[in-house]
Amino acid sequence: MKSSAKPLSKNPHLIQWVNKMAALLKPDAIHWVDGSQKEYDALCAQMVAAGTFIRLNQKKWPGCHLARSDAGDVARVEDRTFICSLSKDAAGPTNNWVNPFEMRKTLKGKFNGCMKGRTMYVLPYSMGPVGSPMSQIGVQLTDSPYVVVNMRIMARIGKKIFELIDKDFKRVVPCVHSVGAPLKPGQQDVPWPCNPDKYIVHFPETREIWSYGSGYGGNALLGKKCFALRIASAMARDEGWMAEHMLILGVENPQGKKTYVAAAFPSACGKTNFAMLIPPAHFQQQGWKVWTVGDDIAWIKPGADGRLYAINPEAGFFGVAPGTGNHTNPNAMKALAKNTIFTNVALTDDGGVWWEGMTEQPPEHAIDWQGQEWTPALSREKGIKAAHANSRFTAPASQCPTIDPDWEKPEGVPISAFIFGGRRATTLPLVFQAFNWSSGVYLGATMGSEMTAAAAGTIGKVRRDPMAMLPFCGYNMGDYFRHWVNMQRGLSETPRVFHVNWFRKDQDGKFMWPGFSENMRVLKWIVDRCRSGGRAMETPIGWVPRHKDIDWSGMDFPKEKFEELQAFDRAAWRAEVIGQEELFFDLHATMPKELLFERELLICRMS
Ligand code: GTP
Ligand code: SPV
Ligand code: MN
Repeated sequence: MKSSAKPLSKNPHLIQWVNKMAALLKPDAIHWVDGSQKEYDALCAQMVAAGTFIRLNQKKWPGCHLARSDAGDVARVEDRTFICSLSKDAAGPTNNWVNPFEMRKTLKGKFNGCMKGRTMYVLPYSMGPVGSPMSQIGVQLTDSPYVVVNMRIMARIGKKIFELIDKDFKRVVPCVHSVGAPLKPGQQDVPWPCNPDKYIVHFPETREIWSYGSGYGGNALLGKKCFALRIASAMARDEGWMAEHMLILGVENPQGKKTYVAAAFPSACGKTNFAMLIPPAHFQQQGWKVWTVGDDIAWIKPGADGRLYAINPEAGFFGVAPGTGNHTNPNAMKALAKNTIFTNVALTDDGGVWWEGMTEQPPEHAIDWQGQEWTPALSREKGIKAAHANSRFTAPASQCPTIDPDWEKPEGVPISAFIFGGRRATTLPLVFQAFNWSSGVYLGATMGSEMTAAAAGTIGKVRRDPMAMLPFCGYNMGDYFRHWVNMQRGLSETPRVFHVNWFRKDQDGKFMWPGFSENMRVLKWIVDRCRSGGRAMETPIGWVPRHKDIDWSGMDFPKEKFEELQAFDRAAWRAEVIGQEELFFDLHATMPKELLFERELLICRMS
């Protein structure tokens, strides 16, 4: 065995667990991850040699690599994701549940010898800034070097985490991950080993994660969705905080005052873009600035002053590549310009990367995400995309030009508003504000969105995705709503709650709202509402801005067009409310009373 087989921790519990797992997984070698640049570079070089990584043109893309996944391993697999709580009711009807004893038996079979021929990495990580009272520690065992290097960008990893584990031993969340592709002696490896049979398994009571068969994104980088949302949501419920699928941003006004908001949009519905918003020129001239704290996950806790404070548990962005370009998200383009791992995007002839929407003009020739020759003609004639719709970049958050100076503040930033949003072609206006906390919780709970490529499944179908947490809540969704209702009880300042929709379409199927930078106008109205300015009109669904309540400077957006965008269509809303009912049926046993009454009130206001 290699020298790195020597444990980097002195913690007897950890060492014992690693040994026990090694006996089950049977790797050829054990590598304790120190998290150094040297180790990162060596792992990258090793993957280049193995064909997993392509080293990009280092003049144009310093420190960057490209990986192409197996065609069957390109997104989260929600139907293979399990919440194995002791009782089925604890997981609730929206989660896949399997009896934990049965699941453990299945997993023992799957994991037995699954790392043969491979190295097992012992990867310690902190979700949240090292040493923050809101941070949590995990240790992931994995046979994927791709996972190790991605985790080094997405979380705080390595020696300093082992030191924390050794010093003031906090509870560690054990995570076991295997691509499920053992190698026989002498067997040639493939660039992206994985297994068609996938299991993404959570044991919420014992706070454990077991992931088998996938090397991609949220299936494999276990600190992200598995820990920071599914396990953390269960911890948060028990301990009185919140783990949410939310971006966090700060809006600085011309007086230099900052207002932080957190926004929950489902996967591939605009969190990264909103988190990195650059205000339109006129706003910039006036002194408006938007600061990025996080783009995907927020951990939120009441502070001593009775306000809610949020941290970003992550250290990087695992962002959707398609649609990201200098016209839509120049901040992301700068963040990913170096030290970035690209997965499933196209390779250009000059050793760079390209994806749909990166530039208006596609390259004349490229190698697509599956390693095939690609030309714009292939796209025109056969609809073949150069990059996969769920292709991603893994980039350090610190490289984002608008990263907030307080983004790693141990106590977090104070949250003044929650914003919910989805991808809705019809019915939902550009923006409205809930009347109060319980109507806001109702709003989040009944959120709908068209499905995207971020998960395997039917794209475009509207599904209810409460608080954008349907695939990420580690316990019963009805109990989760109750937790939301209860969270307000102890606060001295309640965040305002809003709903936005950047994706409403006209009769020709065109987006009615330009989005991106222009979303600043909506954000400004939201911040004004929180700071007790900002005018609005009452409607059956909530408070809405009139044309004159929005700052249109530097933009020509006629009143009629805005009214179309904000239109409240009674018939469509009736259908919407009926669409929401399905969820209430499914969750009737645990749905808090407040939401039942909110629903009644909404129906009354609409009749
Ligand atoms: P996850 O990482 O999967 O959680 O996604 P996300 O919520 O961070 O979504 P992201 O910001 O990556 O956006 C997904 C897609 O929506 C991209 O193709 C964007 O170009 C597009 N998008 C984002 N914001 C807007 C907007 O304001 N208007 C329009 N029309 N498209 C947008
Ligand atoms: C999402 O799907 O919401 C993501 C990407 O942020 S993944 O990390 O794969 O879950
Ligand atoms: Mn996400």
